[in-house]
Amino acid sequence: MTAADDTSETDDSGQVTTAAGTRHRVGPGGEYIVGDALEHLETFDNEAAAIFLDDAWARPQRREQTTVNYQLHPFDEDQPVDDDQVTDTLTTARIVDACYDALVPGGWLVADVDDWLLPRFVSYLRETWGDATEHHEGGGFRRIGGVTYLTDDGEPDRGTHGPFLTTGGYGVIFAHKGPTDRRTDVSARQVASWPLDTYGRGGRAKPVDPYEAWIDGLVDPGELVVVPCAGTAPAAIATRRLFGDDARFVCIDIDPDAYEGFRERYDAAFDVYPE
Ligand SMILES: C[S@@+](CC[C@H](N)C(=O)[O-])C[C@H]1O[C@@H](n2cnc3c(N)ncnc32)[C@H](O)[C@@H]1O
Repeated sequence: MTAADDTSETDDSGQVTTAAGTRHRVGPGGEYIVGDALEHLETFDNEAAAIFLDDAWARPQRREQTTVNYQLHPFDEDQPVDDDQVTDTLTTARIVDACYDALVPGGWLVADVDDWLLPRFVSYLRETWGDATEHHEGGGFRRIGGVTYLTDDGEPDRGTHGPFLTTGGYGVIFAHKGPTDRRTDVSARQVASWPLDTYGRGGRAKPVDPYEAWIDGLVDPGELVVVPCAGTAPAAIATRRLFGDDARFVCIDIDPDAYEGFRERYDAAFDVYPE
């Protein structure tokens, strides 16, 4: 983690405010930074064992479909989006580049996607990180997994129903930085129930359990997990649930309300799962 700069102010709770944002301490080894994901990711150099990205990407025409109230950005410079909710100061592609630099060699990127993002994300990873599906011992794009939401009777949840089949969940892409010894037989496809709470964010928060399974397989206690575009940061909650006081995570979100939502979710989780 980077040290606070010379103009930083620290309050009684350990909260540090600098020109780049506010850093909230979360338990012994956790931190939630309210600031720009790209700016802060670029301060990590070969440090993260895993990065969990649920990016705030925008597709052209997302406007009519979006129920979220946070800032979005285009996938790359070739696919601009003309919308007040979309900023062009950063792109998903630049965040993916910064994730590569922030990971330790062999570290994993785990990214949530939908049908629009998935092919673009995979193509970009193949071009820039390599294709581990082609070169088994190499690095880069490795696998497409996902989360399927189940109803109480064990059927795929059709809550996202539409006229062209239902997804009942979302896709998840797995890639690693160069060859990796971090191997696991945990399934890239997980089931979970769909969290009902939005924690004041619009849209629905992602479940914790799938990230817990993946972190258990790919990360050791005490290693750093980074969660850019964190929202309520289920991967950070999963890290804490798994590793307790040995958990080390950094969440980054530009929206102060995201930290409030995370805090609500984190506090509720650790009432249910006492330390
Ligand atoms: C899809 S949401 C993440 C939701 C999260 N997985 C959850 O379950 O709560 C994307 C998040 O990215 C944040 N975001 C948008 N632009 C950002 C930026 N430049 N830097 C950091 N976070 C950003 C948004 O505020 C939003 O909370």
